[in-house]
Amino acid sequence: MARVFSGIQPTGDKHIGNLLGAIRHWAVMQDEHECIYSIVDLHSITVPVDPAALRASTLSLATLLVAAGVDPDRSILFAQSHVPEHTELAWYLNCTATYGELKRMTQFKDKSGGQESVSVGLFDYPVLQAADVLLYRAGLVPVGEDQRQHLELMRDIAIRFNGRYGDTFVVPEAQIPPVGARIVDLQEPTRKMSTTGGTEQGTLLLLDDPKRLRKKVMSAVTDSDGEVRSDPEAKPGVSGLLSLLSAVEGTPVADLEARFAGSGYGDFKGAVADAVVELLEPIQARHAEIAADPGEVERILAAGAERARAIAVPVIEDVRAAIGFAPRG
Ligand code: TYM
Repeated sequence: MARVFSGIQPTGDKHIGNLLGAIRHWAVMQDEHECIYSIVDLHSITVPVDPAALRASTLSLATLLVAAGVDPDRSILFAQSHVPEHTELAWYLNCTATYGELKRMTQFKDKSGGQESVSVGLFDYPVLQAADVLLYRAGLVPVGEDQRQHLELMRDIAIRFNGRYGDTFVVPEAQIPPVGARIVDLQEPTRKMSTTGGTEQGTLLLLDDPKRLRKKVMSAVTDSDGEVRSDPEAKPGVSGLLSLLSAVEGTPVADLEARFAGSGYGDFKGAVADAVVELLEPIQARHAEIAADPGEVERILAAGAERARAIAVPVIEDVRAAIGFAPRG
């Protein structure tokens, strides 16, 4: 059975795209796989971040992940910076990855565009991401659509390293869900939902209260033809809401089109809002319960890091031997 690894950045409020594209599947995969989930705080410092905010958001994301179904007894849940082998392996892989392939990463182009100063870390981000997964010899990586290119690069790095030094890494595969892998911004539906690149009103935060969630859904942009039908080119707003509802309910878009044939946009949006609130309310309730004992989440992360290191350290020793470093004695 393939081992599973995935990661999520602590900074930026988490939204329903993170849940539908990734976190929800992380919870399901625990039933059949050994799963390792990381709060990737090292990735968060590729752009300037306030230290107090980083600390707080790491703990609050751990709380949220547990509330959303990540079970720390069955899975390993840890903060990336607590396992120093991630940075060690990233260096080794830096010497395998090429400048040319990193330059082609669209996420880097998007994030660096228009910035006056761009850190080397932001450029190198996908190599650290490759290290995250390869360090555990994970075979499956559940992620949303926006991570596809990073996963391709990760595979190329693993294959190249294995070719050069002998079979060391498992070549991982992306697991991108057929629905929900690209939830769009409700105000600018040609863009993905994102707390860094999207609009505030068009982003459904996992911890928004029900009133706010409803308001955001009800004010989603649509179009003037009044038909609840999916056509991402001509009707991006309505299409985005249909795929959101499809992912939330697990109902195919065609069935939703049939259900809402003849309905106005107001009724349709009302149904989307109800479904979103119904999905998020229990998560919010569990979040409040867990957050009442902040010590608990720190204990979960500490135990997770210890379990992660038990896997990572022997792999790093294999990597070091393969590269040809003298034994550490
Ligand atoms: P991050 O923190 O941006 O996002 C976490 C997960 O949420 C998915 N996602 C979405 N899915 C659907 N619709 C959206 N609008 C949407 N926005 C985000 C992302 O695809 C992701 O699965 N580089 C990664 C974190 C990372 C990682 C890793 C992932 C670091 N190391 C190793 C997998 C394996 C990132 O920034 O995700």
